[in-house]
Amino acid sequence: MRIDKYLCKSTELTRSEAKKLLKTGKVTIDGAVSKNGADKVPESAVVEVEGRSLSLLGQRYVMLYKPEDTICSNVDEVYPSVLHFIEIDRVYEMHIAGRLDADTTGLVLITDDGKWSHNVISPKKHCEKTYRVWLAEPLEEKAIDQFKEGVQLHGEKQLTRPAKLEIVAPQEALLTIVEGKYHQVKRMFAAIGNKVEALHRERIGIIELDEMLNPGEWRYLTEAEVNAFK
Ligand code: URA
Repeated sequence: MRIDKYLCKSTELTRSEAKKLLKTGKVTIDGAVSKNGADKVPESAVVEVEGRSLSLLGQRYVMLYKPEDTICSNVDEVYPSVLHFIEIDRVYEMHIAGRLDADTTGLVLITDDGKWSHNVISPKKHCEKTYRVWLAEPLEEKAIDQFKEGVQLHGEKQLTRPAKLEIVAPQEALLTIVEGKYHQVKRMFAAIGNKVEALHRERIGIIELDEMLNPGEWRYLTEAEVNAFK
């Protein structure tokens, strides 16, 4: 893609404003100053304006370690939006692919690619999500079969789809589900007479929460992670 087009697609600049910016010598492609709108931006090149890197809108993919008491919404409500943690340009044009409750921690995917997030959250795609769950009551072995067969959630017509439960400790388990109904995990445990005390998402599809991240930290997804939902 030409650099003038790239600037328009990654900022709010018009084509003539992009050309003016180029003339100032503030734009670099992989570290080399670019002044000509016709200069080519190679695939995966780093384009910077005064040292600040740009990325094409509609092509930004991020994972965040969501801390407690934050919300998966673009606007602040009782708690602040998780988007406050992401220090990138025009972050408010991005959206969250699969929300977590305010008190749930863990993996959140954020993008401005609507088609991509559809592949993550569409019920038809049956994308696996794994949660670590801490419970009020000890788990019984029979819960494994109950979740495999499907449980009746309050207010739903159909049983939940088969889910995989691994009991890690008497009151701790890993639950993998392929749906994303409102408060699904909490309601599933309520349906078998237990109560979720704490909930943490570890995985969405092949994307695992990076263990290098602390609560509130984020990183761009790798090419392989992005391609998993293309
Ligand atoms: N299920 C829940 O109950 N809460 C979440 O935040 C995610 C899944």
